[in-house]
Amino acid sequence: MTGPIRLQKYLAQCGLASRRKAEQLIAEGLISVDGKVVTEMGISIIPGMNLVSFAGKQLKAKEELVYYLLNKPKGYVTTLSDPQGRPIVTSLVKEGGIRLFPVGRLDLDTEGALIMTNDGNLAQRIQHPSNETNKTYETLIKGCPTKKKITLLENGIQLEGKITSPATLAILTSKGQNCLVKITIHEGRKRQVKKMFSLIGHPVLHLKRIAYGKLTLGNLPVGSYRQLNPSDLKKIFL
Ligand code: URA
Repeated sequence: MTGPIRLQKYLAQCGLASRRKAEQLIAEGLISVDGKVVTEMGISIIPGMNLVSFAGKQLKAKEELVYYLLNKPKGYVTTLSDPQGRPIVTSLVKEGGIRLFPVGRLDLDTEGALIMTNDGNLAQRIQHPSNETNKTYETLIKGCPTKKKITLLENGIQLEGKITSPATLAILTSKGQNCLVKITIHEGRKRQVKKMFSLIGHPVLHLKRIAYGKLTLGNLPVGSYRQLNPSDLKKIFL
């Protein structure tokens, strides 16, 4: 349930009329709240608690679509419930009453960018293979691959009977015996990044998603989230 909102805003959210037209409908005595006609402006109602009607017919608000970028910590599952009782990502985004779900999955031990929304269309658009939405990961891998092995992953490698789509890779730094690598893929096969590096003999030690398209995690602290605006959403598909 959301908090109190102005009646004319609620009428607009229900798709009945623009806010200005809604004011006219109120003034004309066509709107009632909890069975009583309301003609004065400026009253607030609580959606889901107060019953608002237009010409005797009860209205229902369309749920506002919201988008958040979460920096998922390790140890959280991206399913909506977990039979094993492990913590779930939805518990981290406390936006009262709005049912959010994560867009795609991250493994239990993977951290980083995870979009949380109630917009099924956007989720589908991001995940549909034909849209080839890029996902970028930073990963610490065991050892340091040769240029030849990097090229193998870039061009596509046989993974469970199907060649992976072209990927972009860059070795960022070496860390002792190991290497920090950036990889961008647009497929979303289960445990894909880990499997790709295992295939070339450099298992993943740590994995973090840092971007969807050009929408980056930036310096969002682990476990925190921020609301996304329309210009953020556009960056996902760049
Ligand atoms: N690839 C993986 O292997 N794991 C993830 O969590 C995401 C991509």
